[in-house]
Amino acid sequence: MGMQGSRCIVVLLLLSVLVLISTSAALAHNITELLSSRPDFATFNRYLSRTRLSYEVNSRNTITVLAIDNSAMTTLLAPRPTLATLRNRLSLHILLDYFDAGKLHQLSSGTAVAATIFQTTGKAPGMSGFVNMTDLGGGKVGFKPQDGSVDFAVFFVKSLVENPYNISVVQISGVIPSAEAAAPVPDPSMVNFMDTMTRKGCAIFAATLVATPKAFAAYKDNLQGGLTLFCPGDEVFLHFLAKFKNLTVDNRISYLEFCVTPIYRSLATLQSTSGPINTLATSGPGSFVFTVQNVGPDIALKTKVNTVKIIGTGLDQQPIAIYLLEEVLLPHELSASAPVPAPSPAPAPASTHSPPVPTPESPSPPAPPPLESVPPTAPPPLDGPVDQTPPPKSHGARAHHQCLVMSLISLALIMMS
Ligand SMILES: *[C@@H]1O[C@H](CO)[C@@H](O)[C@H](O)[C@H]1NC(C)=O
Ligand SMILES: *[C@@H]1O[C@H](CO)[C@@H](O)[C@H](O)[C@H]1NC(C)=O
Ligand SMILES: *[C@@H]1O[C@H](CO)[C@@H](O)[C@H](O)[C@H]1NC(C)=O
Ligand SMILES: *[C@@H]1O[C@H](CO)[C@@H](O)[C@H](O)[C@H]1NC(C)=O
Repeated sequence: MGMQGSRCIVVLLLLSVLVLISTSAALAHNITELLSSRPDFATFNRYLSRTRLSYEVNSRNTITVLAIDNSAMTTLLAPRPTLATLRNRLSLHILLDYFDAGKLHQLSSGTAVAATIFQTTGKAPGMSGFVNMTDLGGGKVGFKPQDGSVDFAVFFVKSLVENPYNISVVQISGVIPSAEAAAPVPDPSMVNFMDTMTRKGCAIFAATLVATPKAFAAYKDNLQGGLTLFCPGDEVFLHFLAKFKNLTVDNRISYLEFCVTPIYRSLATLQSTSGPINTLATSGPGSFVFTVQNVGPDIALKTKVNTVKIIGTGLDQQPIAIYLLEEVLLPHELSASAPVPAPSPAPAPASTHSPPVPTPESPSPPAPPPLESVPPTAPPPLDGPVDQTPPPKSHGARAHHQCLVMSLISLALIMMS
């Protein structure tokens, strides 16, 4: 926890710097829409969406998309890259600056370099995440990675969209060659996802998910496109389990789906996010959403029921992020005001209406809602195997750990049967 905490602080400090230079995250454009009238770019457009790069484009104010047409996409798709590899390749085609036809043909000193989304993934060594654009004379503008690995082989074709200085979409003649971006990346697997969850302090949540097949299937279905999980840490979730078990099966599924957004959100993205965020449980407008609150370096999630701080990062690696929550975030859809078959209030110690915790909008104070947050100060009476969940430092601990996971899963299955 200590190590995780200090890593988190470093990340947050870096982020405060990033936030100062980053732009607002309210969706600035809709690239899917912008390209929808261009059948030549239908494949490119489809894969921007499938890799969720469309979201990255839409959430940035100043951006240039180097689009490739269907036949170039066919070449790119021929070796059947994983979606994760494809994302890296396409991410090198999204420049974090504005370059339209005019600007490209009037580059000062005839050359420029721009950072790309690939650079932001942290997987681009050296200068491989930057694109060099150079006027090669005779109206020919070439594109290549700035790392000097290849010569100019891809050129400006035409402008598709110009919205100065917000978004520009230009066609280039082919895929920008890059060994780094093309490096095979395995698609995320549910096994690894669950394993990471378990090792990073969400073991009980993971076990609960496994014991709730419909929710598990929903996670699995959305994994390739990216997921961001906000999970209550083991100590907190353990207290919550009794209440969770009291929910109807449908509400259990809703709760578990409410903890995850069907898109990868880096800490940096969260820092610049405002407005409601859809979750896997969102089926209609405004249902099962939460908002993100940034106060100083703290990021908190807010529903009509409570506000819960993110206290750690279990994983922040495209396309999966896992954040640890200080408490259980409660969707108001499952609180007393919502039509939930209400179980009677529990005399359990965790269910006190503790005054020191600012509980916003409790509709009927005398009757505790069926779901209620655990006060963060509650000393977790941890016994059993749960307190061994901090990440093992060596591979030696792994086997032991997998054993622990299996026990937890069995435990959850027994508790929920
Ligand atoms: C963008 O446009 C597409 C196609 O018109 C639409 O399906 C999608 O919902 C839009 N996305 C957003 C975030 O508005
Ligand atoms: C882009 O690459 C060309 C050729 O390698 C080089 O001469 C030029 O300096 C580079 N541009 C920048 C801005 O570094
Ligand atoms: C570009 O984005 C800014 C900030 O979102 C906005 O104020 C401006 O109107 C946009 N310009 C165009 C031409 O859309
Ligand atoms: C669960 O429901 C049962 C019966 O409805 C009730 O007796 C019990 O107190 C509830 N437990 C919790 C933790 O809400």
